[in-house]
Amino acid sequence: MTSRRIPLVAGNWKMNFDHLEATYFVQQLAWKLRDARFDYKRCEVALMPSFTSLRSVQVLVESDKLRIRYGAQAVSVTSQGAFTGDVSADMIAHLGCSYVIVGHSERRKYHPEDDANIVDQVRAVLAAGMQPILCVGESYEERRKGIELDFAVGQVHDVTRDLSDEEASRLIVAYEPVWAIGTGMVATPQSAQDAAKAIRDDLTATFSTTVGDTVRILYGGSVSSKNAVELIGEPDVDGFLIGGAALKVDELTKICRLTLEATA
Ligand code: PGA
Repeated sequence: MTSRRIPLVAGNWKMNFDHLEATYFVQQLAWKLRDARFDYKRCEVALMPSFTSLRSVQVLVESDKLRIRYGAQAVSVTSQGAFTGDVSADMIAHLGCSYVIVGHSERRKYHPEDDANIVDQVRAVLAAGMQPILCVGESYEERRKGIELDFAVGQVHDVTRDLSDEEASRLIVAYEPVWAIGTGMVATPQSAQDAAKAIRDDLTATFSTTVGDTVRILYGGSVSSKNAVELIGEPDVDGFLIGGAALKVDELTKICRLTLEATA
Protein backbone atom coordinates (compact mmCIF):
# COMPACT_ATOMS: atom_id res chain seq x y z
CA MET A 1 0.00 0.00 0.00
CA THR A 2 1.46 3.33 -1.02
CA SER A 3 -0.68 5.58 1.15
CA ARG A 4 -3.12 4.92 3.91
CA ARG A 5 -6.68 5.35 2.66
CA ILE A 6 -9.04 7.22 4.98
CA PRO A 7 -10.98 4.53 6.85
CA LEU A 8 -14.75 4.43 6.58
CA VAL A 9 -17.04 3.14 9.31
CA ALA A 10 -20.46 2.66 7.72
CA GLY A 11 -23.59 1.52 9.55
CA ASN A 12 -26.13 -0.42 7.53
CA TRP A 13 -29.36 -0.06 9.47
CA LYS A 14 -31.31 -2.39 7.18
CA MET A 15 -35.06 -2.20 7.95
CA ASN A 16 -34.67 -0.71 11.42
CA PHE A 17 -35.52 2.72 12.91
CA ASP A 18 -38.27 5.07 11.76
CA HIS A 19 -37.36 8.69 11.02
CA LEU A 20 -37.71 9.78 14.66
CA GLU A 21 -35.48 6.99 15.94
CA ALA A 22 -33.03 7.64 13.12
CA THR A 23 -32.61 11.34 13.88
CA TYR A 24 -32.35 10.66 17.61
CA PHE A 25 -29.59 8.13 16.94
CA VAL A 26 -27.67 10.48 14.62
CA GLN A 27 -27.85 13.25 17.22
CA GLN A 28 -26.61 10.91 19.96
CA LEU A 29 -23.77 9.61 17.82
CA ALA A 30 -22.71 13.14 16.87
CA TRP A 31 -22.66 14.19 20.53
CA LYS A 32 -20.71 11.17 21.64
CA LEU A 33 -18.14 11.58 18.89
CA ARG A 34 -17.87 15.31 19.62
CA ASP A 35 -17.23 14.55 23.29
CA ALA A 36 -14.50 12.15 22.18
CA ARG A 37 -13.03 14.92 19.94
CA PHE A 38 -13.42 12.59 17.02
CA ASP A 39 -11.40 13.58 13.95
CA TYR A 40 -13.67 13.01 10.95
CA LYS A 41 -10.89 14.03 8.60
CA ARG A 42 -9.00 10.88 9.56
CA CYS A 43 -11.97 8.50 9.75
CA GLU A 44 -15.26 8.86 7.89
CA VAL A 45 -18.46 7.85 9.61
CA ALA A 46 -21.60 7.10 7.60
CA LEU A 47 -25.08 5.72 8.26
CA MET A 48 -27.46 4.07 5.83
CA PRO A 49 -31.02 4.60 7.06
CA SER A 50 -34.24 3.53 5.36
CA PHE A 51 -35.49 5.70 2.51
CA THR A 52 -38.16 7.08 4.84
CA SER A 53 -35.54 8.54 7.19
CA LEU A 54 -33.18 10.11 4.66
CA ARG A 55 -34.88 13.49 4.49
CA SER A 56 -35.02 13.80 8.30
CA VAL A 57 -31.36 12.82 8.60
CA GLN A 58 -30.45 15.34 5.90
CA VAL A 59 -32.25 18.18 7.71
CA LEU A 60 -30.50 17.34 10.98
CA VAL A 61 -27.05 16.96 9.42
CA GLU A 62 -27.37 20.22 7.51
CA SER A 63 -28.91 22.30 10.29
CA ASP A 64 -26.41 21.12 12.93
CA LYS A 65 -23.52 21.02 10.43
CA LEU A 66 -22.70 17.45 11.42
CA ARG A 67 -19.76 15.67 9.83
CA ILE A 68 -21.57 12.33 9.73
CA ARG A 69 -22.33 11.19 6.19
CA TYR A 70 -25.24 9.10 5.08
CA GLY A 71 -26.58 7.12 2.18
CA ALA A 72 -29.19 4.66 0.95
CA GLN A 73 -29.36 0.88 1.03
CA ALA A 74 -30.44 0.27 -2.57
CA VAL A 75 -31.39 2.16 -5.72
CA SER A 76 -33.47 1.74 -8.84
CA VAL A 77 -31.61 1.13 -12.09
CA THR A 78 -33.96 3.47 -13.95
CA SER A 79 -34.07 7.22 -13.69
CA GLN A 80 -37.84 7.81 -13.68
CA GLY A 81 -41.17 6.49 -14.86
CA ALA A 82 -43.67 3.75 -14.16
CA PHE A 83 -41.69 1.75 -11.59
CA THR A 84 -43.95 1.59 -8.57
CA GLY A 85 -42.07 1.57 -5.30
CA ASP A 86 -38.65 2.34 -6.77
CA VAL A 87 -36.40 5.25 -5.83
CA SER A 88 -34.00 6.76 -8.37
CA ALA A 89 -30.35 7.66 -7.87
CA ASP A 90 -31.10 11.34 -8.53
CA MET A 91 -33.78 11.36 -5.83
CA ILE A 92 -31.25 9.91 -3.38
CA ALA A 93 -28.49 12.30 -4.46
CA HIS A 94 -30.81 15.29 -4.00
CA LEU A 95 -31.12 14.29 -0.33
CA GLY A 96 -27.39 14.88 0.14
CA CYS A 97 -26.44 11.21 0.19
CA SER A 98 -22.78 10.31 -0.29
CA TYR A 99 -23.17 6.56 -0.65
CA VAL A 100 -25.52 3.81 -1.80
CA ILE A 101 -25.10 0.17 -0.78
CA VAL A 102 -25.33 -1.98 -3.91
CA GLY A 103 -25.74 -5.73 -4.11
CA HIS A 104 -26.03 -6.51 -0.41
CA SER A 105 -26.51 -10.25 0.04
CA GLU A 106 -29.96 -9.67 1.50
CA ARG A 107 -30.95 -7.77 -1.66
CA ARG A 108 -29.45 -10.49 -3.84
CA LYS A 109 -31.48 -13.05 -1.88
CA TYR A 110 -34.86 -11.35 -1.41
CA HIS A 111 -35.02 -9.25 -4.57
CA PRO A 112 -34.26 -10.07 -8.16
CA GLU A 113 -30.81 -8.49 -8.07
CA ASP A 114 -28.38 -10.31 -10.32
CA ASP A 115 -25.02 -9.13 -11.63
CA ALA A 116 -26.60 -7.32 -14.61
CA ASN A 117 -28.89 -5.40 -12.30
CA ILE A 118 -26.04 -4.64 -9.92
CA VAL A 119 -23.90 -3.27 -12.77
CA ASP A 120 -26.76 -0.89 -13.62
CA GLN A 121 -27.14 0.15 -9.98
CA VAL A 122 -23.41 0.92 -9.76
CA ARG A 123 -23.63 3.00 -12.93
CA ALA A 124 -26.74 4.84 -11.71
CA VAL A 125 -25.07 5.71 -8.40
CA LEU A 126 -21.87 6.91 -10.10
CA ALA A 127 -23.79 8.95 -12.67
CA ALA A 128 -25.64 10.71 -9.85
CA GLY A 129 -22.31 11.69 -8.26
CA MET A 130 -22.41 9.31 -5.30
CA GLN A 131 -20.19 6.37 -4.33
CA PRO A 132 -21.51 2.81 -4.53
CA ILE A 133 -20.61 0.47 -1.68
CA LEU A 134 -20.53 -2.75 -3.67
CA CYS A 135 -21.10 -5.79 -1.46
CA VAL A 136 -19.55 -9.13 -2.35
CA GLY A 137 -18.70 -12.28 -0.48
CA GLU A 138 -18.97 -16.02 -0.51
CA SER A 139 -21.54 -18.27 1.11
CA TYR A 140 -20.56 -21.03 3.51
CA GLU A 141 -20.74 -23.50 0.61
CA GLU A 142 -18.13 -21.65 -1.46
CA ARG A 143 -15.87 -21.33 1.55
CA ARG A 144 -16.19 -25.05 2.24
CA LYS A 145 -15.06 -25.71 -1.32
CA GLY A 146 -12.09 -23.38 -0.82
CA ILE A 147 -13.11 -21.06 -3.67
CA GLU A 148 -13.95 -18.01 -1.55
CA LEU A 149 -11.26 -15.72 -2.94
CA ASP A 150 -12.05 -16.47 -6.58
CA PHE A 151 -15.72 -16.05 -5.84
CA ALA A 152 -15.41 -12.60 -4.21
CA VAL A 153 -12.90 -11.37 -6.80
CA GLY A 154 -15.15 -12.65 -9.59
CA GLN A 155 -18.15 -10.80 -8.19
CA VAL A 156 -16.24 -7.51 -8.16
CA HIS A 157 -14.67 -8.15 -11.55
CA ASP A 158 -17.92 -9.03 -13.30
CA VAL A 159 -19.67 -5.93 -12.04
CA THR A 160 -16.89 -3.39 -12.54
CA ARG A 161 -14.84 -4.48 -15.57
CA ASP A 162 -16.57 -2.11 -18.03
CA LEU A 163 -16.21 0.98 -15.87
CA SER A 164 -13.73 3.70 -16.77
CA ASP A 165 -10.72 4.24 -14.50
CA GLU A 166 -12.34 7.38 -13.16
CA GLU A 167 -15.56 5.53 -12.32
CA ALA A 168 -13.71 2.60 -10.79
CA SER A 169 -11.69 4.90 -8.55
CA ARG A 170 -14.95 6.08 -6.92
CA LEU A 171 -15.99 2.55 -5.93
CA ILE A 172 -16.04 1.26 -2.39
CA VAL A 173 -16.10 -2.51 -2.00
CA ALA A 174 -17.47 -4.28 1.06
CA TYR A 175 -16.22 -7.83 1.45
CA GLU A 176 -18.98 -9.48 3.44
CA PRO A 177 -18.87 -13.27 3.65
CA VAL A 178 -22.54 -14.26 3.72
CA TRP A 179 -21.97 -16.79 6.53
CA ALA A 180 -20.66 -13.98 8.75
CA ILE A 181 -23.59 -11.59 8.32
CA GLY A 182 -25.71 -11.36 11.45
CA THR A 183 -24.38 -14.67 12.77
CA GLY A 184 -21.76 -13.61 15.31
CA MET A 185 -19.19 -15.54 13.25
CA VAL A 186 -16.58 -13.09 12.09
CA ALA A 187 -13.92 -13.76 9.46
CA THR A 188 -10.40 -13.98 10.85
CA PRO A 189 -8.32 -10.86 10.22
CA GLN A 190 -6.14 -12.95 7.92
CA SER A 191 -9.03 -14.13 5.75
CA ALA A 192 -10.48 -10.59 5.60
CA GLN A 193 -7.03 -9.39 4.53
CA ASP A 194 -6.64 -12.18 1.96
CA ALA A 195 -9.96 -11.30 0.35
CA ALA A 196 -9.31 -7.53 0.42
CA LYS A 197 -5.85 -8.03 -1.07
CA ALA A 198 -7.14 -10.35 -3.80
CA ILE A 199 -9.87 -7.84 -4.73
CA ARG A 200 -7.35 -4.97 -4.71
CA ASP A 201 -4.89 -6.89 -6.88
CA ASP A 202 -7.64 -7.59 -9.39
CA LEU A 203 -8.67 -3.90 -9.47
CA THR A 204 -5.03 -2.97 -10.08
CA ALA A 205 -4.76 -5.52 -12.90
CA THR A 206 -8.09 -4.53 -14.48
CA PHE A 207 -7.66 -0.77 -14.14
CA SER A 208 -4.46 0.73 -12.75
CA THR A 209 -2.28 0.98 -9.68
CA THR A 210 -4.00 4.27 -8.89
CA VAL A 211 -7.41 2.60 -8.85
CA GLY A 212 -6.09 -0.30 -6.79
CA ASP A 213 -4.54 2.10 -4.30
CA THR A 214 -7.58 4.37 -4.12
CA VAL A 215 -10.55 2.02 -3.72
CA ARG A 216 -11.48 1.41 -0.11
CA ILE A 217 -12.26 -2.17 0.76
CA LEU A 218 -14.39 -2.62 3.85
CA TYR A 219 -14.99 -5.76 5.83
CA GLY A 220 -18.55 -6.62 6.90
CA GLY A 221 -20.03 -9.50 8.89
CA SER A 222 -20.50 -9.50 12.67
CA VAL A 223 -18.14 -6.56 13.24
CA SER A 224 -18.12 -5.39 16.86
CA SER A 225 -15.90 -3.43 19.23
CA LYS A 226 -14.34 -6.78 20.18
CA ASN A 227 -12.97 -7.58 16.73
CA ALA A 228 -12.64 -4.18 15.02
CA VAL A 229 -9.06 -3.42 16.09
CA GLU A 230 -7.61 -6.66 14.78
CA LEU A 231 -9.50 -6.38 11.50
CA ILE A 232 -8.55 -2.75 10.81
CA GLY A 233 -4.94 -3.65 11.58
CA GLU A 234 -4.79 -5.48 8.27
CA PRO A 235 -3.21 -3.36 5.53
CA ASP A 236 -5.93 -3.84 2.92
CA VAL A 237 -8.94 -3.53 5.23
CA ASP A 238 -10.06 0.12 5.06
CA GLY A 239 -13.05 0.10 7.37
CA PHE A 240 -16.32 -1.63 8.05
CA LEU A 241 -19.89 -2.12 6.91
CA ILE A 242 -21.74 -2.84 10.13
CA GLY A 243 -25.25 -4.17 10.68
CA GLY A 244 -26.26 -5.25 14.19
CA ALA A 245 -23.56 -3.30 16.06
CA ALA A 246 -24.58 -0.10 14.23
CA LEU A 247 -27.96 -0.18 15.95
CA LYS A 248 -26.37 0.51 19.36
CA VAL A 249 -25.02 4.01 19.65
CA ASP A 250 -22.42 3.30 22.34
CA GLU A 251 -21.11 0.29 20.46
CA LEU A 252 -20.91 2.18 17.17
CA THR A 253 -19.17 5.12 18.87
CA LYS A 254 -16.65 2.69 20.29
CA ILE A 255 -15.98 1.09 16.90
CA CYS A 256 -15.47 4.54 15.35
CA ARG A 257 -13.00 5.50 18.08
CA LEU A 258 -11.12 2.22 17.93
CA THR A 259 -10.87 2.44 14.14
CA LEU A 260 -9.49 5.97 14.33
CA GLU A 261 -6.99 5.09 17.06
CA ALA A 262 -5.82 1.96 15.29
CA THR A 263 -5.18 3.79 12.03
CA ALA A 264 -3.64 6.94 13.52
P1 PGA B 1 -23.85 -7.61 10.66
O1 PGA B 1 -24.37 -7.14 9.21
O2 PGA B 1 -22.83 -6.60 11.12
O3 PGA B 1 -25.09 -7.60 11.51
O4 PGA B 1 -23.26 -8.96 10.50
C1 PGA B 1 -23.45 -6.65 8.27
C2 PGA B 1 -24.17 -6.30 6.99
O5 PGA B 1 -25.14 -6.97 6.64
O6 PGA B 1 -23.76 -5.36 6.28
